[in-house]
Amino acid sequence: MSGCPYFEKKHLLFKNRPPPPEEDEAAQAGVNKASKGGIVYGDYLQLDKVLTAQVLQSELKNDKIHDEHLFIVTHQAYELWFKQILWELDSVREIFISGHVRDERNMLKVNTRIHRIVMIFRLLVDQFAVLETMTALDFFDFREYLAPASGFQSLQFRLLENKIGVPDNLRVPYNRRHYRDNFKGHETELLLATEQEPPLLKLVEEWLERTPGLEEDGFNFWHKLEVNITFGLQKEKEKIEKIADSEEKQELTEELVKQKDIFSSLFDEKRHEHLLSKGERRLSYKALQGALMINFYREEPRFQVPFQLLTSLMDIDTLMTKWRYNHVCMVHRMIGSKAGTGGSSGYHYLRSTVSDRYKVFVDLFNLATFLIPRSWVPKLNPNIHTFLYTAEFDSSYCSNSDDSD
Ligand code: HEM
Repeated sequence: MSGCPYFEKKHLLFKNRPPPPEEDEAAQAGVNKASKGGIVYGDYLQLDKVLTAQVLQSELKNDKIHDEHLFIVTHQAYELWFKQILWELDSVREIFISGHVRDERNMLKVNTRIHRIVMIFRLLVDQFAVLETMTALDFFDFREYLAPASGFQSLQFRLLENKIGVPDNLRVPYNRRHYRDNFKGHETELLLATEQEPPLLKLVEEWLERTPGLEEDGFNFWHKLEVNITFGLQKEKEKIEKIADSEEKQELTEELVKQKDIFSSLFDEKRHEHLLSKGERRLSYKALQGALMINFYREEPRFQVPFQLLTSLMDIDTLMTKWRYNHVCMVHRMIGSKAGTGGSSGYHYLRSTVSDRYKVFVDLFNLATFLIPRSWVPKLNPNIHTFLYTAEFDSSYCSNSDDSD
């Protein structure tokens, strides 16, 4: 505690309270340690830079507007958290890119960091409430001073979107301008680099494609699943046929037809490729199979951590959507339907970004469409069961150790 001013006995809170005698000596030792040299709190955190970075444009124009301080601090807090998210995201991407993810022990690290990103996003979604204590009129008082600055120019926000996997062709265009037009020089280069590097989506996709149990010469999950579903639907049909003609029979028959359609689309690879080309699916056909397999067998020890990862990835998408939604609601109350300082239509443009186009892991959400009764899920044979139960590689199960370890 030596570096923390709140625990120094000089602090206001402790001013009139003598320390208990037995703690006194130890506490003094802490204070002395700080005074002996070494880095102190303010220097360590470079607070001279951070706490002098709130320059009110209104004050520079001799028109100091109180709420501009809150506006600046809020944006800076967001940018700092974006920085932390990028830090975690880059480290996770690195674990995937370097192949270290093949050592399953690293999955805990991946999960912990992705979960941390989720927690930060939770905070960011709620943080708008603080800025909303400012009224539209208070904002109006200094808005002219900040134009043409705009959140459009937040480099870190765009890097974040790109590194997670928002594709360029699905972005909502505004005024027929490309999102990169807001950036120059080095910033543009950074953005271009993130468009070319594999985003988290691609890395997760490659990892899912290696899900043990998908091998056609092994457990062959996909084939087994198709056989079981076809059989299950056939049994349903026979059951319905036994019911006397009635409204209920009619409804059940229609429901069965819908179910058949859903599952024939699942097992139709060409249809998958078509949806992929339209951006309605994002994962490869193989990766989708892996994700579904992890969902069905999530209780098996080796699939528990992967299942948690898939859940966190959906959390990220959900929270980013909530972020966009809370932001646009705040914008609406602050500027109504006036154009933004960055040149977009403002509220209307932002509202169109609260959409599935920006959901990177949309396929993981859609998996719930393909859930089936537990009894239809292919039973694990002893080989794959042992394999999924133990973390050790079982050479009797798979021939390709590289792909399954
Ligand atoms: C009074 C508060 C705010 C208002 C009125 C406001 C307004 C706007 C408007 C109108 C846009 C559309 C671009 C434009 O034409 O300028 C925009 C975009 C954006 N703003 Fe805000 N904003 C506010 C607070 C914030 C905060 C606190 C953040 C946090 C970093 C933020 C981040 C962004 C980002 C990242 C975009 C780009 C979104 C996209 O294109 O998908 N804004 N904002």
